[in-house]
Amino acid sequence: MALFKKKEVEKQEIKVDQRLRHIAFIMDGNGRWAKKRGMPREFGHSQGAKVFKRITDYCGEIGINTVTVYAFSTENWKRPKTEVDALMNLFFDYIQEALDVMMKKDVCIRFIGDKTPLSDKMKKMMADVEQGSKNNTRHLNIAINYGGKDEIVHAVNSAIKDGITELSEKDIEDRLYTNNCAMPDLIFRTAGEQRLSNFLLWQSAYSEFYFTDTLWPDLTPEDIDKAVENFYQRQRRYGGL
Ligand code: IPE
Ligand code: IPE
Ligand code: MG
Repeated sequence: MALFKKKEVEKQEIKVDQRLRHIAFIMDGNGRWAKKRGMPREFGHSQGAKVFKRITDYCGEIGINTVTVYAFSTENWKRPKTEVDALMNLFFDYIQEALDVMMKKDVCIRFIGDKTPLSDKMKKMMADVEQGSKNNTRHLNIAINYGGKDEIVHAVNSAIKDGITELSEKDIEDRLYTNNCAMPDLIFRTAGEQRLSNFLLWQSAYSEFYFTDTLWPDLTPEDIDKAVENFYQRQRRYGGL
């Protein structure tokens, strides 16, 4: 059996196979998590950043090749400046330590989204991390200032620049920010909302969806196990029989 569970002395171990190569997370609910504790939203984001590390590591441990996380949407600029600044500071801190960590874990990092409005320093650090980790075998895509619509427009404009006058699906796929990895098999959203919020619009054409009411900062590896088990009960038909 491809998906197997091994009972060990104290811990169960789940492993995935080629059917679950790519999982994409909409990390939602940081603000509500903080509010429940009478804390500012920023506190929820810093807790969320810790959980992001734990969950992405766990996905690697169970054999998931590619993880994509939605960290900041093209619409999230509408939030108060203090919150946006706090999020940018968290990204900055993460990127600073990312290269060392990712080399050890054999992870290729890509920052997907429109980097134009980000600071020059942040852009340079992102480029260094992407360049330094590009030959690694696992993938972590971090969506910052990402919008699915924006990504498709970017891909089409890039094809036009290349002189293509009649676009094929492949012309677009080759120009998506995620062009180095498989389409997401599973899109996992926390915090109860059942929508895409402009995430991976093209890539999600045949993704499976998994929603939980658990707020992102409360998410644990056991929640991932549950979603994986649920995923393996599904039959993907892609329009066939
Ligand atoms: C997700 O948590 C993180 C980002 C969108 C940056 P939220 O900040 O959206 O948390 P809620 O949905 O308000 O609880
Ligand atoms: C989606 O969450 C974006 C991220 C998780 C980064 P939002 O909290 O921004 O989505 P909406 O506003 O509830 O649709
Ligand atoms: Mg939200």
